[in-house]
Amino acid sequence: MSPRRTRRAHDAAFQRCVNPDCSKTFDLGQVLSSCPSCGELLDVAYDWDRLEPPRRLQDISRARRGVRERLDGSGVWRFRALLPFAPEDSCVTIGEGRTLLRPAPRVAEYVGLRPDRVFLQYEGMNPSGSFKDNGMAGAFTHARMVGAKVAACASTGNTSASLAAFAAATGDMKAVVFIGSGKIAMGKLSQALEYGARTFEIEGDFDDAMARVLEVSREAGIYLVNSVNPFRLEGQKTIMYRILEGLGWHAPDWVLCPGGNLGNSSAFGKAFAELAELGLLKRLPRLAVINATGARTLSRLVNQEGLRWNGGRYDRARVNEFFRTLAERAHTIASAIEINRPVNLSKCLRALEVTNGVVRDCSDEEILDAKAVVGLEGIGCEPASAASVAGLKRLVGEGAIDRDAVVACVLTGHLLKAPEATIGYHSCDGSLARYGLGPGRFPNRPVRVPNDLEKILEAVRAAQ
Ligand code: F0G
Repeated sequence: MSPRRTRRAHDAAFQRCVNPDCSKTFDLGQVLSSCPSCGELLDVAYDWDRLEPPRRLQDISRARRGVRERLDGSGVWRFRALLPFAPEDSCVTIGEGRTLLRPAPRVAEYVGLRPDRVFLQYEGMNPSGSFKDNGMAGAFTHARMVGAKVAACASTGNTSASLAAFAAATGDMKAVVFIGSGKIAMGKLSQALEYGARTFEIEGDFDDAMARVLEVSREAGIYLVNSVNPFRLEGQKTIMYRILEGLGWHAPDWVLCPGGNLGNSSAFGKAFAELAELGLLKRLPRLAVINATGARTLSRLVNQEGLRWNGGRYDRARVNEFFRTLAERAHTIASAIEINRPVNLSKCLRALEVTNGVVRDCSDEEILDAKAVVGLEGIGCEPASAASVAGLKRLVGEGAIDRDAVVACVLTGHLLKAPEATIGYHSCDGSLARYGLGPGRFPNRPVRVPNDLEKILEAVRAAQ
């Protein structure tokens, strides 16, 4: 299929280049990870006049009309009126997106907000334990539409776990995953291996693996499921719909999320932009994207260099120069977001413009302390996820987030993804020294006792 073939006039869903000076469109049958004409990213776009979008926000979910119906039980496809790119019988689901918005009074106290106004959108509850399953449902659906047989990704671990899970559960495709050697948390690597994905450890980090997988997928004709795939981001929009639903169809004042490859923030911005376009949401939440300090490309470009989307005419030459001269490697305990060359940078800039968003970066200390507080809510998350809570504390402290604000932090991955970070933090065993980390603020050290009843009782009494 020639990549130059453009869309048929009657397609209500299509792909479109995000560059306003290009805006070329392509039909859904094209498998593209960038615009063949100008190289920018692609969106899935809709001609809403020819679809039947919901008229009221509370009608965007079909859940209450029949959860037993296959697609209505998916936290992604029950919102399919807002991602109508696939015929219903092509939609792939493995039970993704059945996640909850949870009140978080301890987090609220920690960050200095009112106890009933802070919520955690816990995406760790997905089948593979991270938010990636929302997007993978979209990507696998498109892959099925085009008849792909092999799918690949580069990953810091969660995308690969999700790809491997979908490939195994659906039997639709074989999974090939590329990871930076030694750069992946134990829980995630064990998933890719156990679910049967062909796993390649590239000597290097995520940024190296990402560059290679783009080449490999092009050369070998393999379907790419990284977030340059616009169909993946369609699935990730639904995380925002579930937050709105969890708040009784009221928009929060702020949504905070970690920033790595910047797919999530891009998808969230698109979700809100479309709700505004459809007249379903009058006031948009503000988005805060939180980098780890050891991987803060977005924060540097936005906060130090003043880079803005600028209606799509952002300073591309400046960005190219930044990456050309960027020598340092990303380094953070939040390995999921240990990324210095985010592929969705331009779409994230657009999301920041649409939502009047902000960017911050937080240290590994701040991230791990925030993570320990999340754990006290009884749900727990991996380090990268806690960047959203660390960022919230920072923004409240600065006065950028008002003390009466309603906020939702997206917890992107499950606590059990990276047990080595959690145990290192609580046991203070020095294992986190390679990240320059000493003891944190909220350790819960295991107590060693001899196997002797008296000594055990003594220790238990002392702990009360
Ligand atoms: N949180 C977790 C737990 C992640 O796994 C990722 C990304 C992010 C946040 C950042 O999201 O890339 O959309 O900005 N993980 C990717 C992976 C890179 O390969 O699993 P983003």
